[in-house]
Amino acid sequence: MGSSIGAAGSRSESQAKPAAISITLTVNGESRTLSVAPWTTLLDLLRDRLDLTGTKKGCDHGQCGACTVLLDGRRVTSCLTLAVMKDGAEIVTIEGLANGDADALHPLQKAFIEHDAFQCGYCTPGQICSAAGLIAEGRAKTADDIRELMSGNICRCGAYPNIVAAIQEAMDAMGGRR
Ligand code: FES
Ligand code: FES
Repeated sequence: MGSSIGAAGSRSESQAKPAAISITLTVNGESRTLSVAPWTTLLDLLRDRLDLTGTKKGCDHGQCGACTVLLDGRRVTSCLTLAVMKDGAEIVTIEGLANGDADALHPLQKAFIEHDAFQCGYCTPGQICSAAGLIAEGRAKTADDIRELMSGNICRCGAYPNIVAAIQEAMDAMGGRR
């Protein structure tokens, strides 16, 4: 009898919710300290806690690239990134890409507009953040390279030719095309 009460007690303890964890991130140049549940994704933190809704939730399973942001300068799918694992990291979203100046445009943003590189625009923030990471990687030299290295970013509107042209132009403008 005593042991069954003990078993019920330990089951109840194991079902208790883990405590929220305090983390500090630099988001678009601003230090943000938040208390987050261990299962909170970086995507949900950005959208639901910081109101940075430029980053989009498409599949929520790492398959579409709509949620791409820069984390310590590298592109990541924020839907697959647990926020608590990135304490101390620097995050740049589409809102901060032009150095946080709301009136300024990053060369990629200008090029996407000039090349009509979107239709509905839902994939565009992820495309642009991914392209910024791609240019920083310095691995893309040709249009075929861009197509391959951007293959994690899906555009259901099929704006791919214009997206590649826009990225090529931005690479030229940024001196990243070789
Ligand atoms: S929402 Fe993250 S990859 Fe689709
Ligand atoms: S512009 Fe509509 S999904 Fe890419």
